[in-house]
Amino acid sequence: MELIGRRSEWRALLTSHRRAGAHVGLVPTMGALHAGHLSLVEAARRGCDVVAMTIFVNPLQFGDAADLGAYPRDLEADLTAAAGAGVDAVFAPSVEEMYPTGPPGTVVVPGPLAGLLEGRSRPGHFEGVATVVTKLFSLAGPCSAFFGEKDFQQLVVVRRLVTDLDLPVAVVGCPIVRDGDGLALSSRNRRLGPAERSAARLLYRALEAGRVVIESGGTPERAEQEMASLLATDELVRPDYAAAVDPDSLLPPGDAAGPVRLLVAAEVGPVRLIDNLAAGPAPGGRAIT
Ligand code: PAJ
Repeated sequence: MELIGRRSEWRALLTSHRRAGAHVGLVPTMGALHAGHLSLVEAARRGCDVVAMTIFVNPLQFGDAADLGAYPRDLEADLTAAAGAGVDAVFAPSVEEMYPTGPPGTVVVPGPLAGLLEGRSRPGHFEGVATVVTKLFSLAGPCSAFFGEKDFQQLVVVRRLVTDLDLPVAVVGCPIVRDGDGLALSSRNRRLGPAERSAARLLYRALEAGRVVIESGGTPERAEQEMASLLATDELVRPDYAAAVDPDSLLPPGDAAGPVRLLVAAEVGPVRLIDNLAAGPAPGGRAIT
């Protein structure tokens, strides 16, 4: 497996693979790799000839310096995990390499999708994500890029970014990998103490309860109430939002027969966790108001 730190070398490597006829699969990450990340590698291996992973903790997408400072970093362990999973090349640039002039003078500002849900609680977050993803796509060139549904809003924002800017990238969404008790794998889970880890299961329980409401014909509002009241039952969990929305627009569903995406966010101890689940449609449709 090749490890590359320079943008010019990364661009040259992927260009040479393409010239040799290979289809490149890009897996952007911030490291602290777990089985969720490796499932993206697996999907890339199935669909592509060369798997190219990026590992970069992007300061632009962190609102506060403490959260950025606390983000887990372990490049040695990540390289071992990536090699074991069959990654062909890793791009792990420094912050100075990615942003040589300091904070970039040009940024990518996503549209209204980025102001909802996560965007409301983390102003500027998706601007940081869209900017770094655009740079990573620009460096990689034509490829398929693999993103997890774990960050469902990020996936929707990136799809829209590619459409709006005509980027030569096929975005592939991959299912969420969970622990046995339902908790979605996340690099941030490492910072949960034992009691917090146990309380964190509430997010998935809330989503499951919301799904039951939708799939038995209840309204999205009823599902939101059900999820919110469950999230409020443990003092270690400080809920942020519980939403039942259209999976494309992330707005309240307008179609009683259409699918719904349930999304929750909560702080558990020192960590902000997010999760989501697909629901419905109910066999006979559902009430919409
Ligand atoms: P990071 O949080 O490291 O996640 C990298 C990719 O792994 C994302 O596409 C994310 O959705 C996916 N992922 C994380 N946990 C997962 C799980 N349990 N199951 C399936 N996929 C999972 O997301 C980012 O980094 C950054 O915002 C990035 C896109 C790299 C831009 O900086």
